[in-house]
Amino acid sequence: MLHWYDAHRRDLPWRAKPGEVADPYRVWLSEVMLQQTTVAAVRPRFESWVARWPTFAALAAAEDTDVMAAWAGLGYYARARNLLAAAKAVVAEHGGAFPRTEAALRNLPGLGAYTAAAVAAIAFGERAVVVDANVERVVARVFAIATPLPAARPAIRAAADAITPDLRAGDFAQGMMDLGSAICTVRAPKCLLCPLREVCAGFATGRPEAFPARAAKKAKPQRYGTIFWLERSGEVLLVRRPAKGLLGGMRALPTGPWAEAPPGLDGAPGQADWRLIDGGVRHGFTHFDLDLALAVAQVEAHTPAPDELWWRIATLAQAGLPTVFAKAAQAIRSDA
Ligand code: ADE
Repeated sequence: MLHWYDAHRRDLPWRAKPGEVADPYRVWLSEVMLQQTTVAAVRPRFESWVARWPTFAALAAAEDTDVMAAWAGLGYYARARNLLAAAKAVVAEHGGAFPRTEAALRNLPGLGAYTAAAVAAIAFGERAVVVDANVERVVARVFAIATPLPAARPAIRAAADAITPDLRAGDFAQGMMDLGSAICTVRAPKCLLCPLREVCAGFATGRPEAFPARAAKKAKPQRYGTIFWLERSGEVLLVRRPAKGLLGGMRALPTGPWAEAPPGLDGAPGQADWRLIDGGVRHGFTHFDLDLALAVAQVEAHTPAPDELWWRIATLAQAGLPTVFAKAAQAIRSDA
């Protein structure tokens, strides 16, 4: 694995060059960004983030709203909130540098088992067992683990532990990730190019792509709602969502309630001549799927409530709207 990594490692902006020491801030940030988003999508976001906030101290001093807006489109906003909280804790409690062990890292906000292990191994060279979705797939195949996910996780973890080396555990983990991404792919793995082929029990079965097995998914509940686009001379009305609940604290377009049937114009901001536009947007959240109707109206005047503000449409991209609202804005503007 390590030989293969030395020859084929991807050159990624958060990775130290061979022989150089990794920057723990960059390793941590990249691992958090990569939890829900692909390497290709993370790359430019990572670069602009570290240009703006290059260190724990810089991030710790950032405004909450700016951090949340910079996170838009990268997945669960709790991760961004925890990034800021962890940066503040690193500055306040650790003199601006990460603690260096997996156990101590676990005490920081948002550093779960995966992130703490990844940072300990990749940034500090600790022997930690790092299991992300790519590693999980490679290990399930090498050991031909037939139990379906998620029940297979403890066995996969134990197998990953058994093959993690004492030295270069971070390179080993990243090698497994690169292998999973380039060769041991979900569909049609390229086993002829794989350095692990000779030891791979999944390859020996003739159907490596059958691992890891998956239990059938439960259907998610369906919810409905309406997004309101209220426009006034080149500006659109935005709201700050309540701190608690879905997309809490984010800037957003106004919405009505989420309901079990389409709620129409319930909860519209102000009196206006609303027009529903054809189509709508669908968005899958973790616990439900949401079908949203889009209502548009123009007004001469509307005094914003305390949680509302007018925003120039030309600069809407800078509002940091969560993906579902960005999709809605795009659908509305292409309808106009
Ligand atoms: N996915 C998550 N972490 C990664 C890393 N360090 N390198 C490549 N892919 C990754």
